[in-house]
Amino acid sequence: MRLPEAGTIEIAPSILDADFARLAEEIGTVEAAGVKIVHLDVMDGHFVPNITIGPPVIAKLRKVSDLAFDSHLMISEPATYAERFIEAGVNHVTFHIEAADEPEKLIERLHELGTTAGICLNPETPVQQIEQVAPLCDMVLVMTVHPGFGGQKFMHEAARKIIEIRKIVGPNVRIEVDGGIDPQTAPVVVSYGADTLVAGHAIFSKSDRVAAINAIREAYQGPRLAGT
Ligand code: DX5
Ligand code: ZN
Repeated sequence: MRLPEAGTIEIAPSILDADFARLAEEIGTVEAAGVKIVHLDVMDGHFVPNITIGPPVIAKLRKVSDLAFDSHLMISEPATYAERFIEAGVNHVTFHIEAADEPEKLIERLHELGTTAGICLNPETPVQQIEQVAPLCDMVLVMTVHPGFGGQKFMHEAARKIIEIRKIVGPNVRIEVDGGIDPQTAPVVVSYGADTLVAGHAIFSKSDRVAAINAIREAYQGPRLAGT
C-alpha cells in the first residue's frame, strides 16, 4: 500500500469529483483500471475556501480499498492533524509549504510514523521556498490550479516549475502534479519531469473510468492495463 518507488509514471485519481455518496464503489472503478494510488483531497475551509473529508471517512475507505492512499492536506496547521490521518490509514501525507511552520520537523515526524512525506506548493509560490525541504521528501506536489476546487483550467506557467524541481530532487523523488490534468496536459507535465499525475475531473466526470484513465496513459504512452 505504499507509494510505488520512483521510476514509473502513475495516475492518481482524485476523488474530489466522484460521487461522495458512493465513494467505495467509485474507488473500485479506478482500481479496476489498474491504478495503484488514489488521491484524497482534504480541505478545511480555512486554508482553502472549501471543505471535504477528514479522518473518519478515510478510516472507512481504508477498510474497502488496498490502494495507496495519497492524502493531500489543504489545511492550516498540518502538524496538528497529520497523525490522525495516519491513524485513519493514509500511506502518504502531503502538506503545503504555505501552511507549515517547521516543514523539516513535520517531514521527519511523518517518516517516524511510517508514512512517506510530501511537500506541496501553490501556483504562485516560488520554487525557492521548497528548495531546502524538497530533497527530504518522497514526493513533491506541484499545484497547477489554485487549490480548493476540481475542474479548473491548467496553469501552464505553474507547471514549468516541475523542470526546476526535478533538477533539485534528482530521479528518486516523485514529482506529482495536480490540477487540470487530462490527455492534453499529461504529456506536457511528463515531458517536464512529473511522474505522478493527479486527475479528478478528467476521470470522474466520465462514465467509463477505465477508458478515461487509458486515454491519459495513451497520451503520455504509459503502460495500458492488459486486455483493455
Ligand atoms: C484541487 C485538488 C485537486 C483536484 C484536481 O484543490 O487538490 O486534487 O481534485 O481536480 P482536476 O483534475 O479536476 O483539476
Ligand atoms: Zn489534490
